[in-house]
Amino acid sequence: MKIAFAGKGGTGKTTLAGMMIRLLSEEKRQVLAVDADPNANLGRALGFPGAGEIKPIVEMKDLIYDRMEIKADPKGSFYKLNPKIDDIPEKFVKKRKGVSLIVMGTVDAGGSGCVCPESTFLRELLKHLVLKKDEDIVMDMEAGIEHLGRSTAASMNCLLAIVEPTLTSIETAFRVKRLAEDLKMKTFFLGNKIRDKEDENLLHEKLGSDSMLGMVSYYEDMHNIDKGGSIMDLAGDVRPLLQIKEIKEKLLRAETKDEQKKVTR
Ligand SMILES: Nc1ncnc2c1ncn2[C@@H]1O[C@H](COP(=O)(O)OP(=O)(O)OP(=O)(O)O)[C@@H](O)[C@H]1O
Ligand SMILES: [Mg+2]
Repeated sequence: MKIAFAGKGGTGKTTLAGMMIRLLSEEKRQVLAVDADPNANLGRALGFPGAGEIKPIVEMKDLIYDRMEIKADPKGSFYKLNPKIDDIPEKFVKKRKGVSLIVMGTVDAGGSGCVCPESTFLRELLKHLVLKKDEDIVMDMEAGIEHLGRSTAASMNCLLAIVEPTLTSIETAFRVKRLAEDLKMKTFFLGNKIRDKEDENLLHEKLGSDSMLGMVSYYEDMHNIDKGGSIMDLAGDVRPLLQIKEIKEKLLRAETKDEQKKVTR
């Protein structure tokens, strides 16, 4: 399964992506956690030691310029469009408790057509990662998903736009959905921090029910994760974790169906 989490800042992308990663790894599936947020903190949420010190790949200018065969000033010079990438995951992936983590970072794309070397490098790396068939990928992104690239988007199962019951978060979710649809990517909304029926109704009313994948409840003690706790250590019966488990099962069933369709086509 290959999914990306996006949405407005603070809606819970990292938390829910972390739960999904934990649940997939508990099934002994091979899971690659991709942190593609400029403020990378997926590693910390998953309890990777020294997570705060991991340098995102996008900041490794020497590596990127070397692989893209850029000699000095990158501005205005030519660079390789298909840099050597296949050894990068092996070098920069961290492993813990059956989870592999790669911290990509992101570039300020400034709209979709960004062709700076860093952006091209990230796109190529993502494309390479999603082509591995037997590995699950869970990507923690920001609201801007422009650097996904068409070929990466085509290999992903879907994008989940995380949405809180607030109007600004709803607006962002729609924007994310539009961007994803431009990339021909299937998109679902996933409600988070739901406290009552009223919250649930607001999301259904504003977003419609067709693309709504599910709702995740507000959980009082979640803030413990911000204070150094890890999603890997949450009790197994915590409500949001059980709700993400259901979402995971839904997505896995949909994936199996899609694959069967491909075979019979
Ligand atoms: N279901 C929930 N119940 C209660 N609190 C939650 C829930 N989900 C996330 N939170 C809290 O909301 C805050 C933001 O969560 P998180 O960091 O996962 O969001 P994010 O979308 O990744 O943010 P950013 O845009 O900064 O990366 C955190 O304090 C987290 O503990
Ligand atoms: Mg985050």
